This record gives sequence, C-alpha cells and structure tokens, in this order.
Amino acid sequence: MVELRKHNIILIGFMGSGKTSVGKKLAEKMGYVFYDTDTIIEQNQEDTIRHIFELYGEEYFRELETKLIQGFSTTMKEVVLSTGGGIPLRQLNRELLSDLGYVVYLRASTQSTVNRLMKDETRPLLQGENLEEKVDRLQKERAPFYTQTANETIDTDNLTPEDLADKILEGYLTFIK
Ligand code: S3P
Repeated sequence: MVELRKHNIILIGFMGSGKTSVGKKLAEKMGYVFYDTDTIIEQNQEDTIRHIFELYGEEYFRELETKLIQGFSTTMKEVVLSTGGGIPLRQLNRELLSDLGYVVYLRASTQSTVNRLMKDETRPLLQGENLEEKVDRLQKERAPFYTQTANETIDTDNLTPEDLADKILEGYLTFIK
C-alpha cells in the first residue's frame, strides 16, 4: 500500500515545457486540485516573479520556493502540482518533491523551448540577448537534477497537452497501484 501522501502528481521541467497547461488538463481529468508554485508565490507576495527577482534577487526567490514546498509536505493529497523550473536545483527541494508524490519530468528540446519562449517577458533568467544560448546552457546544467528527481521522464516535443496528460495518468495509476 502506498502512503496517502503519495497521491499527488508533481510536474517538473524547464521553463516553457508545458507544466502549467498539462497540469491543468491532468487535474481536470482526475478531479484533482491544480497548484502552480509560481502562481502561489505571486499571490502570497502580491507581486510578479520578475519584480521579486529585480527587487530581492534569485536567492530570495529560491527561499520562497523552498518555504512553499516545505509547507505542502504533510498536508497535500489529490493535487497536481506544477513547479517552477528552478525548484529541483536544491537537494532539499528534490527530496521534498519526491516525498510529495509521483514526479514527472516534462522534457523539451532546446529548439522548441526557444520557440515557445521567444517573446516571453515574465522569466527573469531568460531576458536579454542570446536566448538560445541561455536555454541550452541552463538545460544542460539542470537536466541531471530533473532526471534524478523524476519517477518518469516524458519527451514533450511531439505530444499535445492532451496526449501528455494521458501518458502521465497511465504512469501514475501504475505507481499508486
Ligand atoms: C524559473 C522558472 C520559472 C519561474 C522563475 C524561475 C527557473 O517558472 O519560477 O522565472 O529558474 O527555471 P516556470 O518553469 O513555470 O517558467
């Protein structure tokens, strides 16, 4: 018997990999609640992520992320949680996520990520010149953290959010059996 606290699905992966859109679809399909760490942080701080970075810097934001997921750990059940792309960088966060539930890494190629984020102004780490180089470098740095945290890795490039939601559900149902 899997413990009840494992009855959650956690989506991790790089910015623009579809965690939020797929997560919403999945939650809808399963009748689970949908949470998104970025949205909760923005609501709690009454500010945008971009502005929080500008005012206080990345480390401050990372602390907010850790505190948020620490607060989830004992209480969460039947939730689909979409996480900010930098959360798996901290070992403590990786452990917390694994404790929460079934972790799925949505992996996207550099090119599709660049295409999706070309006009984005909300992600502070990707502003300015050379988007492709930034995406490529950060993805290479982060890939090991994503893969080591995930129960399942799914390549997203050729799948619709609907397909992805079905695929995740299949793996999750096996996981909680
Ligand atoms: C970040 C990803 C963003 C957001 C912040 C930092 C990152 O979330 O948390 O801009 O370091 O990868 P998304 O992955 O939802 O874009």
